[in-house]
Amino acid sequence: MEKSLILVKPDGVERGLTGTIIGRLEELGLKLVAIRMLRADKDLAERHYAIHRERPFFNDLVNYITSSPIVAAVFEGEEAVSRIRKACGATDPAQSEKGTIRGDFGLDIGRNTIHASDSPETAAVEVETFFGNEGTCEYTRIN
Ligand code: RTP
Ligand code: MG
Repeated sequence: MEKSLILVKPDGVERGLTGTIIGRLEELGLKLVAIRMLRADKDLAERHYAIHRERPFFNDLVNYITSSPIVAAVFEGEEAVSRIRKACGATDPAQSEKGTIRGDFGLDIGRNTIHASDSPETAAVEVETFFGNEGTCEYTRIN
């Protein structure tokens, strides 16, 4: 079954939106299989955003995600990656539709409230990055 990793970014945690965001994804019928709060250090942030290393906004990205605690979670379900991306909305909240997480809560392109894996392959790497030690849980989701 497909897994996707999400991060509630600092602006989401600081504004008390963690429960709302996790709830929205649970309401899609996706199964929460791992969750933890952490303060990412520079090394973890640089690994997570390695694909953006050459981009002009890379340093801002790393500085932002390490600035305050985040909540990492893994959801499992059919087409979890694409369904969660859709629920997040466009990267820039100014372009995201209302009813999406970024459309409703995002502040700007940096403080856009949530990260979500962009492919099942990326998800596998990201789950390992954030939950490699403890792994994910198994149970039956009852709808
Ligand atoms: P994410 O990885 O956070 O789920 O977002 P995404 O796939 O929609 O966007 P991505 O292209 O992977 O970019 C990662 C994060 O970098 C910030 N960003 N800033 N200043 C800019 O032009 C710019 N472009 C992207 C965003 O915070 C984005 O979430
Ligand atoms: Mg991305």
